Amino acid sequence: MCEFEITGGRPLAGRLAVQGAKNSVLPILAAAVLAPGESVIHNCPDLTDVAATLDILRLLGCTVAREGDTVQVDASRVRCGCVPEKLMGGMRSSVVFLGALLSRCGGAELSYPGGCELGPRPIDLHLMALRTLGVKVSEEGGQVVCRGDGMRGEQICLSIPSVGATENAMLAACGCPGVTTIVGAAREPEIEDLQSFLRAMGARIEGAGSPVIRIEGGAPLHPAEHTVIGDRIAAATYLCAAGAAGGCVTLTGVDPGHLTAVLSVLREAGADIQTTPGSVSILCAAPLYGVRPVRTAPHPGFPTDAQAPLMAALCCGTGATMFVENMFLSRYRHVGELTRMGADIQVDGRVAVVTGRPLHAARVRGSDLRGAAALVVAALAARGVSRLSGVNHILRGYQDLDGNLRALGAQIYPV
Ligand code: UD1
Repeated sequence: MCEFEITGGRPLAGRLAVQGAKNSVLPILAAAVLAPGESVIHNCPDLTDVAATLDILRLLGCTVAREGDTVQVDASRVRCGCVPEKLMGGMRSSVVFLGALLSRCGGAELSYPGGCELGPRPIDLHLMALRTLGVKVSEEGGQVVCRGDGMRGEQICLSIPSVGATENAMLAACGCPGVTTIVGAAREPEIEDLQSFLRAMGARIEGAGSPVIRIEGGAPLHPAEHTVIGDRIAAATYLCAAGAAGGCVTLTGVDPGHLTAVLSVLREAGADIQTTPGSVSILCAAPLYGVRPVRTAPHPGFPTDAQAPLMAALCCGTGATMFVENMFLSRYRHVGELTRMGADIQVDGRVAVVTGRPLHAARVRGSDLRGAAALVVAALAARGVSRLSGVNHILRGYQDLDGNLRALGAQIYPV
């Protein structure tokens, strides 16, 4: 599949079960290598990033099977070979295999994940966390080589609450004797989900969801069964789609508590939002209007991953909104494409000011995961038939985005 054809102007209506969270399942699959035997992961979304992670597990000697949304990972035999560039490339989250392999085999070797489409994405905090635990890290010819012979628990202080560095530190600390404290830890729901899985495996770990995580390492671990949480970013994208196209949609399988910042902005923009413990409903009878500045921030702030879909929804509303992107440098690559659809967006560095107005169809290209999803959101509201290329980015993070939107009444077809 290479392109989507989207006819805008149809309001959305219906119910949708939200997929499992991409950003949870990737570190959880890596964590499965911590214990010999077969772990079972439910609510595992069908994404190209998940397929790439399963390929890495196979390369490391695991046996992997998938049936529907359940994945079995048998990590009885794990060999700590090098994960080559071909598998690491394009999927930065694979860097958490460093912590997982250090825990299981006391050593790890990966190709450097490098930068990506969001701008430079260093791993200095990941490596600092591992070095603090006594890991000897060397970077040779594009490879990161970690030796963990003298690993011991320590206090790790993160200067930025990096999601990946927190996960890497949690995974490494599980296999390291002594107590590790991660101070300044990321508080994303996906960190709590990883903690739940590690606890189910027998790890002594607490504090996820707060800025301090404590791990008593060295406990013998066993395989476990776990159900991944619902994907709050996919949910935010569907809510923005309903905000842009109008209509009435209920999302199930998602915790509204994970979406507090997004729901508060959508309510301010005029959407009628109702929640129950496992669902969110949105009713949009009129175009969204401009809101107070939206500043992306670590959880529980407004998620950077929802910035592009929200911007697309507000582009086709009324009134002005200022966005401040604080997490990544190159996260406005969707702006030029939205402009091709008639959007009024002025960008100056980290700041983008959007003034809502009706959009028209255009040929547009997605160049990153959330930016491509944002173009779908805009096309659902735009007058005429749009054509979106770069759909491969969408497949990294959304399971059957087009099928789900068609089920809600949208006209979106792969061509
Ligand atoms: C994760 C998410 C991604 C989300 C991001 C921020 C996964 C698979 N991906 O990415 O969808 O957009 O969190 O919520 O979970 N940083 C450093 N040095 C480091 C690590 C990070 O300077 O060693 C900086 C980054 O450049 C960025 C900030 O810290 O400015 C946050 O990045 P981080 O939380 O690490 O993002 P990821 O874990 O890569």
